[in-house]
Amino acid sequence: MLLKDRVAVVTGAAQGIGRAVAEAYAREGARVAVVDVQAEAAEKAAAAIREGGGEALAVACDVSRRDEVDRAAAAVKEAYGPIDVLVSNAGITRPAMLHKMTEEQWDQVVKVHMYGSFYWLQAVVADMIEREWGRIILTSSSTAQNGSIGQINYAAAKSGMLGMARTAARELGRYNILVNAVAPAAATQMTEKIRTDPRFADAVKRSPLRRHAEPEEIAPTFVFLASDASSFLTGQVISVDGGGMMVR
Ligand SMILES: NC(=O)c1ccc[n+]([C@@H]2O[C@H](COP(=O)([O-])OP(=O)(O)OC[C@H]3O[C@@H](n4cnc5c(N)ncnc54)[C@H](O)[C@@H]3O)[C@@H](O)[C@H]2O)c1
Repeated sequence: MLLKDRVAVVTGAAQGIGRAVAEAYAREGARVAVVDVQAEAAEKAAAAIREGGGEALAVACDVSRRDEVDRAAAAVKEAYGPIDVLVSNAGITRPAMLHKMTEEQWDQVVKVHMYGSFYWLQAVVADMIEREWGRIILTSSSTAQNGSIGQINYAAAKSGMLGMARTAARELGRYNILVNAVAPAAATQMTEKIRTDPRFADAVKRSPLRRHAEPEEIAPTFVFLASDASSFLTGQVISVDGGGMMVR
């Protein structure tokens, strides 16, 4: 098992990519905190992991609020001990063209992705420094590199997360804490609208693998990045998108 007895926090783990990552971590022996703003769905996801023989705890938390993040981190530590692995994955979209975007749409997206990541990084990092071992993975997006029409808030937030990952990688490398980002592409609730929009069908056909991925195909990269196998890899962004980045 690649993550035996590691304590892992996965935010946005009630569904989609985060849930697949939480399940994969549990299969690899980690004790997993399923953190999500959807309390009931998080509980269901954690219960499913436990029914499958894994160890999981649901923690209700809006990552955009520092008080909730601090409370959630304390609950995980009390149940499982210090956090070894953080996956900052919770995400939302609030699309609008630049000239129509409201400040509220901007704030909501920046709050969840950037403040949420910042709060969680701060909540876990002291223990990781003390124990001289840590793995931090931020779920970014190809939007950070390419931009995306109607998503200036999301592109800015996901770019911000890359800057955070690289900076944290530089600051924390001396403590054997590795920080990387993943830019995924998967069939989830978040991408449902785009996937069913004929205007985007062509982009998928042009990508090397010519199909969408299930979240379960994204999760193994998160397992690798959380494990000892990635011991010399930090400050990187890994595109797990069927080669889509090459043909945009
Ligand atoms: N699916 C893709 O192709 C794709 C592409 C690029 C990036 N991403 C990123 O991957 C991550 C996971 O997305 P997904 O596709 O699984 O989407 P999803 O909508 O299925 O899951 C997102 C999860 O985040 C949770 N969440 C939202 N706001 C939250 C908050 N304030 N606090 C705590 N939890 C919150 C939701 O409840 C949900 O469970 C996101 O960061 C997303 O931006 C996804």
